[in-house]
Amino acid sequence: MEKIIVEGGRRLTGEVCVTGAKNAVLPILAATVIGANESTIFNVPNLKDVDVMEKILLSLGCNVKRMDNMMWVDSKPLDKIKIPEDLVSEMRSSIILMGAMLARTGEVVVSYPGGCEIGPRPIDMHLKALRELGADIEESHGFIYAKAAELKGCEIQLDYPSVGATENAILAATRAKGTTIIRNAAREPEIVDLQNFLNKAGAKISGAGTSVVMVEGVDKFHDVSYTTMPDRIVAGTYMVASAITGGEIVVKNIVIDHLQATIAKLKEAGSLIYYDNDSLKIVGPKRPNSIEMIQTLPYPGFPTDMQAQIMALLTIANGTSIISETVFENRFKHAEELIKMGASIKLFGNVAVVKGVKELTGAKTTAKDLRGGACLVLAGLAAKGITVVENVYHIERGYENFHEELRKLGAEIRKVE
Ligand code: UD1
Repeated sequence: MEKIIVEGGRRLTGEVCVTGAKNAVLPILAATVIGANESTIFNVPNLKDVDVMEKILLSLGCNVKRMDNMMWVDSKPLDKIKIPEDLVSEMRSSIILMGAMLARTGEVVVSYPGGCEIGPRPIDMHLKALRELGADIEESHGFIYAKAAELKGCEIQLDYPSVGATENAILAATRAKGTTIIRNAAREPEIVDLQNFLNKAGAKISGAGTSVVMVEGVDKFHDVSYTTMPDRIVAGTYMVASAITGGEIVVKNIVIDHLQATIAKLKEAGSLIYYDNDSLKIVGPKRPNSIEMIQTLPYPGFPTDMQAQIMALLTIANGTSIISETVFENRFKHAEELIKMGASIKLFGNVAVVKGVKELTGAKTTAKDLRGGACLVLAGLAAKGITVVENVYHIERGYENFHEELRKLGAEIRKVE
């Protein structure tokens, strides 16, 4: 098992360029199967989750070529309807193939999804939306069998603005007969990116980024090339790396609007942030201020995917902070690892009370999930002595060359077998 070893105490400085967004590219790659066409996607990050999606596309019969940060998918030869079980268990997002495959072939078989172990993460809203569009769905022995002779446009009212359920509904509706209206849709920027990709290939979707998305079904798709949006969570993670080390980092290739909630909290914690259109400079404080209250929320609220990283920062803040996790249950597994490093954290259900300590000390820790893993590396950057983070594969699901990038910024960090 690979480990990251960090010797803390270095002030990080320099520039880092943000890669394409994992959570945008995965639904976009799923969407490539819809139209029996060729898609060329640029700014594709080299991540474990993208490798899994590539394997799924290949297993369905698509031709795929990948070079550096470009991926070309020809979905014309697609001739299978079953998503291999082992690949679904590796990545929860494979569930968005359901909507895309129903649009393409009217049939799909998929096992119950895996991915990060953060709460029960049910898929009831996905299935409800697909049923409303006309799919017959049976669940038996851990598999989901979905079939639709014809998908029909309809009105879908989501009970919660779920990102995945919104994407699945959009994907299925692209080829449905008539118009679909999705209300209480998630407003995440990644959904706008999916809309832009699909529209460029011939779909007729509007409203992404608001709570009401309208999809007019179409029959014809054409070849498309598209550049994925930058990853706002990767950007936010490097911003915390600067904040937690009192550093000075320029983060390039960002969309500033996507980062406003993170910027606001990092400023509250004492960072100075200067920005223009597609880059920002963040100067970390000598010691972070505590933050009275952080509540994770659907976009444009503070992202749950930044909760672990900000917790790492607040462990060394001057005062006590409260973090309320409202999006996922059971998303505080990193807290017990931070406590091993000397952090003072008390958990009350979905609320964490973080009492800042003067200094963390290096310890042997284990990444339990993707963002929790990044949080431990960040904590290690600030800690006295050596921190070991085990189960690096979690981190590699979402960060390209994480330790290398941090090393270039001046961290004393390496990965070992
Ligand atoms: C996506 C992101 C993930 C991010 C999350 C919230 C991808 C690949 N992943 O995950 O990084 O943390 O959005 O911003 O884009 N829920 C149900 N029933 C459903 C669907 C969801 O109860 O059918 C619940 C979930 O358990 C969770 C909440 O809704 O508590 C939000 O989940 P959702 O927005 O669907 O997140 P994902 O799409 O899984």
